[in-house]
Amino acid sequence: MSEKVISDYNGYDYKTEFWEKTNREYEDQSDRMAIRKLLPKRMDKFADIGGGYGRLAGEYLKRAHKIYIFDYSKTELAQAKEIYGDKIETKAGDIYKLPFKDNELDGLMMVRVTHHLSDMPKAIAELYRVLKPGGVAVIEVANKRTLPKMARYITGKSKVNPFDKKVANYKEISKDGFYNYHPKYVEDIFKKVGFNQERVLSVSNFRSKTLKKVFRTNNLVKMENAAQQILAPVRFAPSIYYKLRKPEK
Ligand SMILES: C[S@@+](CC[C@H](N)C(=O)[O-])C[C@H]1O[C@@H](n2cnc3c(N)ncnc32)[C@H](O)[C@@H]1O
Repeated sequence: MSEKVISDYNGYDYKTEFWEKTNREYEDQSDRMAIRKLLPKRMDKFADIGGGYGRLAGEYLKRAHKIYIFDYSKTELAQAKEIYGDKIETKAGDIYKLPFKDNELDGLMMVRVTHHLSDMPKAIAELYRVLKPGGVAVIEVANKRTLPKMARYITGKSKVNPFDKKVANYKEISKDGFYNYHPKYVEDIFKKVGFNQERVLSVSNFRSKTLKKVFRTNNLVKMENAAQQILAPVRFAPSIYYKLRKPEK
């Protein structure tokens, strides 16, 4: 067991409560679109880290020979097994001590997990360890430097400074911590650990209740498709996706 705080999804029906009862079709489509652009087409061993009930499995089932969904929550993993059966293998554990050998995986992804991580450098080092040289990690990061967060800071509604590189912890959202990161902070970690950064996408650029009221989901999704690449250089969106590669020896 880790000394780190773990956001425990045991006993929580994330699928129903977070995705099905709410209007998040746009966010779901945006995640899928980014993964399709970044994940290698063919992999032998692949793991969805903090994969939950396998919401995004449709994007990797056909790309890998052996697929693991890894998560701390047995509730999430049981649901994943019920949905995908033998197409996947579930593994339970803690991100800070992944149950994979050194250099074991050809690819992995980690989406919507970084906001739970109190020790980002340690988690990224673990991801690096389990990847083969030449292997690819697709990692989504919760961005603290977004326009709405800048506006809240400048108008005094929030004390969190989106411009400094310090990790933001919104304790009011979760007692376990709810972390957002400056892009430069995470990119420095990727570099220090040894990853090569191959591609960046800005994802869920139009995540806004107002925009969702004004535009139909399919129109927002079309705009999103173009915006993911165009807005990547300024790391605009609340989700930033990175395609990272562990260098060949
Ligand atoms: C917001 S959900 C995202 C699930 C999935 N990646 C998706 O995008 O639908 C976050 C997941 O991370 C898992 N998680 C959080 N901290 C973890 C840790 N330290 N070790 C393993 N899993 C963890 C939770 O159990 C949960 O299933």
